[in-house]
Amino acid sequence: MKIFEQIDLLNAFLFQQQQTKSIGFVPTMGALHEGHLALVEKSIQENDLTVCSIFVNKIQFNLEEDFAKYPRTLEEDIKLLESIGCNCLFVPDQQSIYPEGYELKKYNLGDIENFLEGFYRPGHFQGVCNVVHRLLDIIQPHRLYLGLKDYQQCKVIEKMTQLTSLDKRVALKFCETIRNEDGLALSSRNKRLSMNGLNKATALSKILNSAKEKILAAEKEVDLILLGQESIQNILKNGFDSVDYFAFVNENFESIDSTSKNNQPITILTAATIEGVRLIDNIKI
Ligand code: PAF
Repeated sequence: MKIFEQIDLLNAFLFQQQQTKSIGFVPTMGALHEGHLALVEKSIQENDLTVCSIFVNKIQFNLEEDFAKYPRTLEEDIKLLESIGCNCLFVPDQQSIYPEGYELKKYNLGDIENFLEGFYRPGHFQGVCNVVHRLLDIIQPHRLYLGLKDYQQCKVIEKMTQLTSLDKRVALKFCETIRNEDGLALSSRNKRLSMNGLNKATALSKILNSAKEKILAAEKEVDLILLGQESIQNILKNGFDSVDYFAFVNENFESIDSTSKNNQPITILTAATIEGVRLIDNIKI
């Protein structure tokens, strides 16, 4: 695997490849797990060349402490990427991505920006869009691979690529969430949980599933406000310290309060904290 820290060296390498090869790109913040590797593997299957990036993007962390605590496991990450045949790794420093005088962009993302994750993490999605846009400009891939565990992030990046016309040259590929045998969605943040915390954290996906089952089994309309409140109580009972939200949205990422209004697909999303670690998960109906 070729590893680049500098943009000009990466560009020189990619320039030769771009003429004849399709390029798939997997942006990450490192601390790689099976979920990331599944994205890289998908890209390897669908492209001639796969580029992965590892960059802990300070501007998307609303809490300094969360940025400082974000796990950094570069040597391990390199081994994992090599073991599955990733072709190229880009590991820039902050200065290369945001050089002196670099002006951050402000995207007009609409309501999704301040809703759910956006509400609890002000500025987060602008930070994500800035870095993904910058990385896409540098790497110029044909396909971009993102995990559906961060469903709202997928929707926001889709919007950003439409606003910037990047959607004309890069296809977005959203890939299913990878879970452990107990259903817990894989996340770099899981590395900060104790054994006990990891066990308790499995409640999140179980409660999402049971809300889904209730909706599917219901013969009449379901009050989603009530179902949300019950689900939050259930998450707390199962050992989480706090729950930011347990929300139901339609395809346009608008909040819905009952199943009566339409037969559109619903996605249930939740964010909850255990042992000081904030986890998110979602399920589609
Ligand atoms: O999902 C992530 O790990 C990050 O938000 C991303 C897309 C790599 C941007 O920093």
